[in-house]
Amino acid sequence: MPNSPLILSGKIVSSAVKEDLTKRIAALKQQGIKPGLTAVLVGEDPASQVYVRSKERQSEKLGLNSQVMRLSEETAEDELLAIIEKLNEEKAVHGILVQLPLPRHIDAQRVIEAIDPEKDVDGFHPVSVGKLVLGLDGFVSCTPAGILEILRYYNIETEGKHVVVVGRSNIVGKPMANLMIQKRPSGNATVTLVHTRTPDMGFHTRQADILIAAAGAPEFIGAEMVKEGAVVIDVGINRVDDASRERGYRLVGDVDFDAIKDRVSAITPVPGGVGPMTIAMLLSNTVKSAENSLE
Ligand code: GUN
Repeated sequence: MPNSPLILSGKIVSSAVKEDLTKRIAALKQQGIKPGLTAVLVGEDPASQVYVRSKERQSEKLGLNSQVMRLSEETAEDELLAIIEKLNEEKAVHGILVQLPLPRHIDAQRVIEAIDPEKDVDGFHPVSVGKLVLGLDGFVSCTPAGILEILRYYNIETEGKHVVVVGRSNIVGKPMANLMIQKRPSGNATVTLVHTRTPDMGFHTRQADILIAAAGAPEFIGAEMVKEGAVVIDVGINRVDDASRERGYRLVGDVDFDAIKDRVSAITPVPGGVGPMTIAMLLSNTVKSAENSLE
C-alpha cells in the first residue's frame, strides 16, 4: 500500500506565525508604535495587483498601518527614486516594499538599492543579502524565511541532511541555499544548488533528503527526480490552462504532486503550502523593523 505523505500546511504555519505577531504588535502598541508597511506598485501587472491587494488585506487584518502607493506604468525611474527617498525618511513607515517586476524602463536593482536597508522588509537590498551570507541578523527574503518556518514547525531536521535547491533566483534559490548552510540548528545542511545549466539535474535531485523546487516551471519535478522518503518543498505557483475550471486555469507547483506523493515522506501542497508563508514573513519582517526602531 502506498504511504500517505505528511502534508506540510503553510496555512497552519502562517496562522501560528501571525498569532505570535499579534502579541508582538500588542506589545509595540503599549510603546506607542504601530508597525507601518508601504507597498509601491508600478503599472498594471495582474499578478502583482493580486499580490499587493493580499498583502494590504492581511496587514490591515493584523493591525498594521498598511499603505499602497499605486503608480502609473509611465512613472519615471527618478520619480520612483524620489518617492522611496521620502518613505525612507518617514518615521511611521517601518517597511518599504516595491513590488516586482517593475516596468522595463526602470532599473529594478537601482530601486532596490535606494531603499533604506533598515526598512528592507523584502530582504532584497545588497546589505540584507550580505548579512544573510555572513550569518548576521538582518532581513531575510520572505519565501526562503517562510520555508525555514515550515521546516521548524514540523520538526524537520536539516542538520547533516543533503538539501538540493532547484533554481538560482535572487529571491528564492540563492537565499535558500545560504540559509541552509548557516552554522545553526535550522541550517547545518549540505547544499547542492542546481539550475538551468546543470547537466543531468535528476542525478542531483535524486540525492536530496530535502528537495526545494523553485524553478518556475510547472510540474517539472516528476517521480524519477525524487528519492524515496524525501521531504519536498514546492515553491512554484504556475497557472496552467484548464477549460474545466470556471476561471480557465488552475494553479500547479513546480512539482508533479500526484506523481510523487506516494514516494515522499512530506510535501507542501500548491496552493496552501509555501504561498501563505511569504506574506506572513513579510509581516514578520515589518514587525521586526518596528521593534528595531525602539532600540
Ligand atoms: N514579486 C514576486 N515576489 C515578490 C516578492 O516577494 N516581493 C516583491 N517586492 N515583489 C515580488
